[in-house]
Amino acid sequence: MRPTVAPFPAARLRRTRVSPAIRGMVRENNLTAEDLIWPVFVRDGEGIEEPIASMPGVYRRSVDLISKAAVEAEALGIPAICIFPYTDSSLKTEDCAEAWSPDNLSNRAIRAIKEAAPNIAVMTDVALDPYNINGHDGYVENGEIVNDRTVEALVKMTLAQAESGADIIGPSDMMDGRIGAMRQALEAAGYHNVCIMSYSAKYASGFYGPFRDAVGASGALQGDKKTYQMDPGNSNEAMRLIERDLQEGADMVMVKPGLAYLDICYRTKSTFGAPTFAYQVSGEYAMIKAAAQNGWIDGEKVMLESLLAFKRAGCDGILSYFAPEVAQILNG
Ligand code: PBG
Repeated sequence: MRPTVAPFPAARLRRTRVSPAIRGMVRENNLTAEDLIWPVFVRDGEGIEEPIASMPGVYRRSVDLISKAAVEAEALGIPAICIFPYTDSSLKTEDCAEAWSPDNLSNRAIRAIKEAAPNIAVMTDVALDPYNINGHDGYVENGEIVNDRTVEALVKMTLAQAESGADIIGPSDMMDGRIGAMRQALEAAGYHNVCIMSYSAKYASGFYGPFRDAVGASGALQGDKKTYQMDPGNSNEAMRLIERDLQEGADMVMVKPGLAYLDICYRTKSTFGAPTFAYQVSGEYAMIKAAAQNGWIDGEKVMLESLLAFKRAGCDGILSYFAPEVAQILNG
């Protein structure tokens, strides 16, 4: 669409900016609590809410307090919560068996949230990194992150999460063929209504730093993730990945990180029209919080502006650590 503009002064484009009322009438995009997915970190113990130094305002919570947080999020109108486990290093192994244990932290958290807040959708993370001795999302054999054996493990993980009551499976591993394998396994096991939100275009990014602290993976990670996560220089490749994942049975697709990849969000939505999400990742959150704490930017304003930008770029929703803070503001 090419907007038409009359010659000046017939057209004075400032007319529609003259007052809050008129600006509200012509605003093209809005942010609502319904657009938010809240990523949370779960740890073992009871009654624990442990701050994460590189993510001010974000905590690792024990399962009981995660449920409490989910109840609050539900009341704020946040439609979904996404669980990331902080796994004790004693449970990290080469075979990553903890990943599909029905009683691992993540699966216990799913069950607790479904019981306490039945109307909030529970999303999971599927990747081996929280359970892997070397911090990678897949198995490592002779220095190579192997694809097919990893996919088998991811399928077991997926089924354990669905069994625990997960509503949305979130594969963040970037292996090839995983969406098809997960979809087939879910159908075969009777989980016809479990959604898959694929981290389809996930870049090998510097913006994940604080997250790796939050889940205790920074120390463990050997090398980098560049043989499976995308090169930040690529855009056409993202379209191929998204098309591939949709064809394999993803219900929703995600672009990650967010703000630095808005062109990918826009292209995804306009090319495929599928439900499109972005992940405003830990480093994006940390930058805004840090600058705000220094008094260098207006934190609230920048938080809201950054999230609205995702809507403008065509996203249907955003995973954001700001979710409860934003929902509170939007609800007045
Ligand atoms: C791991 C995973 C990562 C994030 C979500 N799932 C980190 C990584 O790939 O190293 C990052 C989230 C964030 O930075 O907020 N599979």
